[in-house]
Amino acid sequence: MKGTLYVVGVGPGDPELMTLKAVRILERCGVWLAPAAKKDGESTALGIVEGVVNRSGKEIITHHFPMKKIRMGQSPDPEVKKAWNAAAAQIVGHLQAGRDVAFPTLGDPAIYSTGFYVCETLFDLAPDLPVEIIPGVSAIGASAAAAGQPLCLGDDRLVVIPATFENGRLRETLEQFDSVVLMKVHRVMDRLVPLLTEMNLLDKAVLVERSSQSGQRIRRDLTTALTGNNDEPHYFSTIIVRKS
Ligand SMILES: C[S@@+](CC[C@H](N)C(=O)[O-])C[C@H]1O[C@@H](n2cnc3c(N)ncnc32)[C@H](O)[C@@H]1O
Repeated sequence: MKGTLYVVGVGPGDPELMTLKAVRILERCGVWLAPAAKKDGESTALGIVEGVVNRSGKEIITHHFPMKKIRMGQSPDPEVKKAWNAAAAQIVGHLQAGRDVAFPTLGDPAIYSTGFYVCETLFDLAPDLPVEIIPGVSAIGASAAAAGQPLCLGDDRLVVIPATFENGRLRETLEQFDSVVLMKVHRVMDRLVPLLTEMNLLDKAVLVERSSQSGQRIRRDLTTALTGNNDEPHYFSTIIVRKS
């Protein structure tokens, strides 16, 4: 019998925000392939899992996925594609040998997660292998909770975008929606803050760093995150702009 690949959302950082299902599947799978953003670096997702599930007896593969921009409808950087192929090939080997594999991923797998790229690559290699996606608590909900505010109420329109968008698309989106969640903000504060200021939205924005993790921080004055202030936000940072 073939094994199953489980892409498991492990939540935004606090192990208590892992679902019972995520814990049960990680306990059951003998092989974990965990994504790491840095070469030879640690996997954040794995760190979260290890707060709850005992790793002894597991085969744990930490796999490096380079963090490069991916645009839908365009070919990814060859280095990125290579990493997806290598991960999928390893997973296929285990599944064909009858071993279940868990791919723990930060937050929810449906939101900017490498897990789905790995699945697509796996389907190209072996379309008949079973895959299950286990949803998790996203940093989006965790950030709103940390800030103590809703994302949307009533007939509000909510949108989620990477802040790495060029300013024209950001402006258009900020104009059109009532609530805007900006992810991947840490390197673009120097152009985001002036844009929000110009649009009179700076006081509607909250920056949440490391929500649910130790080191969680809420900033309502986003100008403190400009590079000149030497207090740049962590990679795990999300901005919520809520107009109403
Ligand atoms: C590649 S996306 C992964 C999103 C993830 N799949 C989710 O559902 O939360 C990474 C971005 O998520 C956001 N993020 C992840 N963890 C976070 C946390 N604990 N607090 C605030 N933002 C976080 C940041 O904007 C970061 O740049």
